[in-house]
Amino acid sequence: MSTPESHPVRAEAVVDLAAIRHNVSTLRARAGGAQLMTVVKADGYGHGMVPVARAAREAGADWIGAAVLEEALGLRAAGDTGPIFCWLTTPGEPLADAVEAGIDLSASAPWEIDELAAAGQDRPARVHLKIDTGMSRGGAVPEEWPALIRAAVRAQAAGRIEIKGIWSHLASSDEPKSPVNETQLATFTEAIEVAESFGIEAEFKHLANSGATLALPETHFNLVRPGVATYGLSPFGHALPSAELGLIPAMTLKARLAMVKRVPAGAGVSYGLTWTAPRPSTLGLIPLGYGDGLPRHASNGGPVQAGGRRRTIVGRICMDQSVLNLEDDEAAAGDEVVLFGPGTAGEPTADDWAEVAGTINYEIVTRLGARIPRRYVDSSQTASVER
Ligand SMILES: Cc1ncc(COP(=O)(O)O)c(C=O)c1O
Repeated sequence: MSTPESHPVRAEAVVDLAAIRHNVSTLRARAGGAQLMTVVKADGYGHGMVPVARAAREAGADWIGAAVLEEALGLRAAGDTGPIFCWLTTPGEPLADAVEAGIDLSASAPWEIDELAAAGQDRPARVHLKIDTGMSRGGAVPEEWPALIRAAVRAQAAGRIEIKGIWSHLASSDEPKSPVNETQLATFTEAIEVAESFGIEAEFKHLANSGATLALPETHFNLVRPGVATYGLSPFGHALPSAELGLIPAMTLKARLAMVKRVPAGAGVSYGLTWTAPRPSTLGLIPLGYGDGLPRHASNGGPVQAGGRRRTIVGRICMDQSVLNLEDDEAAAGDEVVLFGPGTAGEPTADDWAEVAGTINYEIVTRLGARIPRRYVDSSQTASVER
């Protein structure tokens, strides 16, 4: 049987673990005295949850952050024994497994405290109380905060839970000058004071995502939770590119052309024939499409580096395939093209794709599907590992 190494791949996402470690160290330095939680939800923003978490721990991440229970339990199953925080559960989920595994969990309402209290069999559940400081996503709204605190205090007194943290999430840290940040910070500080008035001295207080870790030191408290910056992507997009933040994009998405052909002037391309060759043109077939996570909104504009030049996807991006306008370039089936990478060798970046598709760099990397193999390299050494 052939192995992944025995033949050239159709497409791959190469992830540089040295870049991840560098970014984690950079974020640690930016966090000042606060502890660092590296957020690896959604398969490490598409980079691979377990390899990223391992690299982050190597670079000194104190905590790993996961959104859902399967992620947190997956980290434990992969051998991560350090602090893990998981914040998104629905009624009836197997919280007992998480409590048993020593995973810190979140509560936004008294009924969640009841579930967590019931989940702790041999040990109390470790709980972080979430206040909604203005984003209206998770968290208790300030009017309901005292009721949440009272339920938590009762469950703690009964030995069923341990209140480990108070936390919230910022809506606009990608715009550091937005007054919303100040308002949310004030609401958070007030919520801590209310908790203290009930005798709660939570060990961890956390609010800051990547934008706030990098630009709003007053929101750091004693724990920060950056996600996207870990992967070398700027939370501020093109407004403040990653290089200016000292971050290194970790992922490079490459493919090999499935075929190359010359078409005459007037040839229409892809579904709906939304692009027509203005003159005789060479087209390359990229074996990637929206089924792999390329945004269909980048049809007629997705940037790609081919033969050292910037070229553009023409026509609609299909489920499995896209057509690249190579103009008059010399090219052949099997040639490698780069859809995005760090940008240091002239290739497009995830930010470039985000701009064309009208989205954010987060979505470009996170949506890459399971059909694209991830290959791990360590640019500080030379080894590479398949997944
Ligand atoms: C609760 C929570 N904390 C931290 C993060 C990390 O955010 P970012 O990727 O913007 O750093 C996220 C991601 O959206 C999140 O949902």
